[in-house]
Amino acid sequence: MKLNIALLAGDGIGPEVIDQAVKVSDAIAKKYGHDLSWTPALTGAAAIDDCGEPYPDSTHDVCVAADAVLFGAIGHPRFDNDPSAKVRPEQGLLKMRQKLGLFANVRPTFTFPSLIDKSPLKRERIEGTDLIILRELTGGIYFGERGRKDNGNTAFDTCTYTRAEITRLAKKGFELAMTRGKKLCCVDKANVLESSRLWRETVQAMEKDYPEVTVSYEFVDAVAMRLVQWPNSYDVMITENLFGDILTDEASVISGSMGLMPSASVGEKARLYEPIHGSYPQAAGKDIANPLATVLSAAMMFEDFGLTQEAQDIRDVVNKSLAEGIVTEDLSEGAKAYKTSEVGDWLAKNI
Ligand code: IPM
Ligand code: MN
Repeated sequence: MKLNIALLAGDGIGPEVIDQAVKVSDAIAKKYGHDLSWTPALTGAAAIDDCGEPYPDSTHDVCVAADAVLFGAIGHPRFDNDPSAKVRPEQGLLKMRQKLGLFANVRPTFTFPSLIDKSPLKRERIEGTDLIILRELTGGIYFGERGRKDNGNTAFDTCTYTRAEITRLAKKGFELAMTRGKKLCCVDKANVLESSRLWRETVQAMEKDYPEVTVSYEFVDAVAMRLVQWPNSYDVMITENLFGDILTDEASVISGSMGLMPSASVGEKARLYEPIHGSYPQAAGKDIANPLATVLSAAMMFEDFGLTQEAQDIRDVVNKSLAEGIVTEDLSEGAKAYKTSEVGDWLAKNI
């Protein structure tokens, strides 16, 4: 298969982890005779430095022309403590999601057999966890009306959803559940929020089209609790943008390191793959960050192109590296810590 992939490394550790995913993907391409071409483009603080824009049109053009986008991370500390900054790296990510129409964010949480005891949660609570949070990504409070009034002394952000936005996300949730455990949990705050009541009403009306799927409705605060108590009771969860942002960070610690969880963002056409961790500026340039979340994001990309065996090879080699202790310092626990690039080299060699 011939694939043209846009490579948006971004900021902080982004370029280092992206390099490893490219190495592993190239090794897969060589093994299976695929033709991968990579087109780099700037985003985040790196793009602001270059042209004053975190998601320039030139980068958008590269993404639109590509079959998929592989994304590293964005964010830079020099913007974090400056509330007056007009242009921020994160705006690039939001603009990209919106312009590419990436309305569904697929964030899986699963455990690795050799890392079960590295989780902050007890083994018996997390064993067998294999859930997907499907987060709505281009609506809600992230994109609602916002502003200041009262001479700047009152600020507001509004959460708006249309039935159409909820339906297209929920449809993906039902379809995903059909390929897995056939359980769908709609996470909302319907006891308080009108937008949540529309979510619930919309999903309830869709239940009849998917009779095999068992649907539950849970409030987000209760889910925040159950997610760390009984993560293995969930299969597919659907939720709005902000709830999904918070719950997926919470879920990411279950596996033992935030450096492990991949994600995909999909829309009608575009698809983007990225680790769920951030730009980890303290580690930038040190060759110490865990590249596995990005490598596993590349596996999700192969899977979505129907290259199931290729994806499985990547997951297998990642499991092998974990079992053999070829790990970065976040997982080494006093034993030898491998560099980011060494882990990437080892994975590529063992494909
Ligand atoms: C994420 C991030 C982004 C979000 C930030 C960087 C804008 O936290 O992808 O989860 O809030 O969506
Ligand atoms: Mn987040």
